[in-house]
Amino acid sequence: MARESTATSSSAALSPAASSSSASACSMSPGRRGRGGALAAVVLVLLLLGVLQAAQAAARIRDLDDALVGDIKDLKDIRDNRVRPEQGGHSKDELLLVHVMFRHGDRTPDPPTYPTDPYGNFSYFPFGWGNLTPAGRRTEFRLGKFLRQRYEDFLGSYRSGVVYARTTDWPRTKDSMALVLAGLFPPAKQNVWGHDGEDLGYHWMPIPADTKPRDQDKLLYMWDVPCPAYDKEFQDVLASQTFQKQFRGSNEQLINYLQKYSGAQINTPEDVYNIYQALLGQSGFNLTLPHWTKEVFPDKMKPLTALYFEVDSWTRKMQRLRAGPLLKRILHTSVSRAEFPDRKLYLYAAHDNNVSALLRALQVWQSSLPPYGTAIIVEVRKKAGQVGVQLFMRNSTATDDLHSLTLPNCEHFCPLHRFVKLTEEVIPDDWEAECKS
Ligand SMILES: *[C@@H]1O[C@H](CO)[C@@H](O)[C@H](O)[C@H]1NC(C)=O
Ligand SMILES: *[C@@H]1O[C@H](CO)[C@@H](O)[C@H](O)[C@H]1NC(C)=O
Ligand SMILES: *[C@@H]1O[C@H](CO)[C@@H](O)[C@H](O)[C@H]1NC(C)=O
Ligand SMILES: *[C@@H]1O[C@H](CO)[C@@H](O)[C@H](O)[C@H]1NC(C)=O
Repeated sequence: MARESTATSSSAALSPAASSSSASACSMSPGRRGRGGALAAVVLVLLLLGVLQAAQAAARIRDLDDALVGDIKDLKDIRDNRVRPEQGGHSKDELLLVHVMFRHGDRTPDPPTYPTDPYGNFSYFPFGWGNLTPAGRRTEFRLGKFLRQRYEDFLGSYRSGVVYARTTDWPRTKDSMALVLAGLFPPAKQNVWGHDGEDLGYHWMPIPADTKPRDQDKLLYMWDVPCPAYDKEFQDVLASQTFQKQFRGSNEQLINYLQKYSGAQINTPEDVYNIYQALLGQSGFNLTLPHWTKEVFPDKMKPLTALYFEVDSWTRKMQRLRAGPLLKRILHTSVSRAEFPDRKLYLYAAHDNNVSALLRALQVWQSSLPPYGTAIIVEVRKKAGQVGVQLFMRNSTATDDLHSLTLPNCEHFCPLHRFVKLTEEVIPDDWEAECKS
């Protein structure tokens, strides 16, 4: 996705990209026992009940409104194995919940492209700039069909509340969500609304998705919500020797070539990404690319484009401020399932940097560019009485291959308490406060 503003490398002092450490305290002090009489005990119980109710209400508000302020005590309890969610049950391997975060489908370029672009004034009619193409629509529809196939038995047919769908505030993610939902939930019997040759009503039904305006989205998009702590860290990384070496090191020739022919100044990997996304969008639209691009696009440009995704979430702190809120939400909704007992699926439609930020936060990023429609799948399962998480990535539009992802220091089936422990560093306690500090 394109950023509306171009980051400039400031004159910040060279500072190594230090990774931040979690601000959260690791251990809870053991409870102290009162020695009062029976009355004191009753008062205590009443107080506790009140606190519990308040906590439940707070959790409800959090889920509905995704306010990102709040404690993660319940997650800490899971981590420390004090609470074991959903113990019991009989089957050996039971799927409890699925979260899918995916990238939108193939699209036309975002402006601005690059100064010498022969298609700088192209209209991309009837789609316009930055929007899904027919191929992109197919990509997302197929992703929906794939999810239907994989989770057929688990999901059943559509009923209210079974899915929560959330998109960023861009036409291409909203369209993508509509298409994924169309592939995922074709109307089954009771949901058919077709009648007397109203054919569409047998194949498609409307399913709503939530979104927040860009400047209020503190869960998925966030780019237009101020986060000075992130911006500072980003500038520090750009100025750091480690980064500069990786960026300039052996790429001087390529950078010069791109500058010469594109007319663009190449100061950061984002400047390379901007050209890359333009060329990719144009070739996807069957436009003939200028001759000079043959030398470098796509292969030679790939590593520097990948670096754009890396620099965006370079340190643990940046990952925490970028992907952290979504990861926190994924964990919360996995843990407090009593809130929405009928929910089986959470869908999030987002962008390439969101796929990379999440993969990097989970430490499973492998420097391969996230193709259109890439989906990260988080399955919450119960195996032999233990609740855990299994991660997958579907990153090809040509096949339905799923790649298993395994968190470092865990098994592919990662027990929830270990998962929480291993991701703790990238789960913000209070995103807004951390952004200010
Ligand atoms: C695009 O349009 C502007 C204004 O009409 C014009 O100045 C410019 O030369 C055009 N660019 C191309 C590549 O045709
Ligand atoms: C998605 O990407 C945008 C732009 O880089 C970023 O501001 C936001 O934090 C990302 N969100 C997630 C959940 O990764
Ligand atoms: C591009 O060409 C392919 C193959 O001929 C075709 O299927 C597709 O519709 C074309 N796309 C556009 C946007 O014209
Ligand atoms: C998909 O991801 C796997 C694992 O990271 C990688 O090996 C493969 O090259 C990727 N495929 C595509 C098409 O990006």
